[in-house]
Amino acid sequence: MVYKFGIDEMMTKINILRDEFTYARAYNPIEHVKSRLKSPESILAKAERKGAPPTLEGIREYVRDIAGIRITCSFISDVYSIMEMITRQGDVAVIEIEDYIARPKPNGYRSVHVIVEIPVFMSDRVESVYVELQIRTVAMDFWASLEHKIYYKHDRDVPEELRDELRVAAETARDLDVRMEALHERVHGRI
Ligand code: GTP
Ligand code: MG
Repeated sequence: MVYKFGIDEMMTKINILRDEFTYARAYNPIEHVKSRLKSPESILAKAERKGAPPTLEGIREYVRDIAGIRITCSFISDVYSIMEMITRQGDVAVIEIEDYIARPKPNGYRSVHVIVEIPVFMSDRVESVYVELQIRTVAMDFWASLEHKIYYKHDRDVPEELRDELRVAAETARDLDVRMEALHERVHGRI
């Protein structure tokens, strides 16, 4: 329940940014936002895989993506400005930043992952909740969703030829990101 509230709390922050951009600025950097709560089965599987102590506290500390939010932006610079706008808020504690845009994974995966901790105010107490934010561009999202499907279709053992193709596709997605941002800047100026 508390993780659902964590998502609600975080979604409010994101929706405020989105609405502010829509009403008060010429350009909205947020394309779309999706949230999900990890299923109890996946939570237990991950806790076991990570060697978490079999307690609620153990699970809380080892499985920090029970509440997950994915924000898709138009351009790479938007990814960083959205991250900045969220992480500088006073009630958001940044626990970890993994920048797979600066350092893509060997398979070509790119995105910024941020684990934040936010307070959720309950009737009789305040709970701190971890939320995982994945922030990426539309092109990165397109690549990641196809890669995910291929990965599972091949039961996590993707043939080398396909892996090579995916790496090339990731570079193409990166080139597209760079070109589109340059075009955008030419038309609108720096944002
Ligand atoms: P896990 O959460 O167990 O994967 O460990 P971790 O926290 O070290 O992983 P990481 O932060 O790298 O990735 C967490 C999430 O990012 C995954 O659950 C996916 O949603 C996404 N992700 C990471 N790597 C990939 C990838 O190579 N391909 C795709 N499609 N998604 C990825
Ligand atoms: Mg992670």
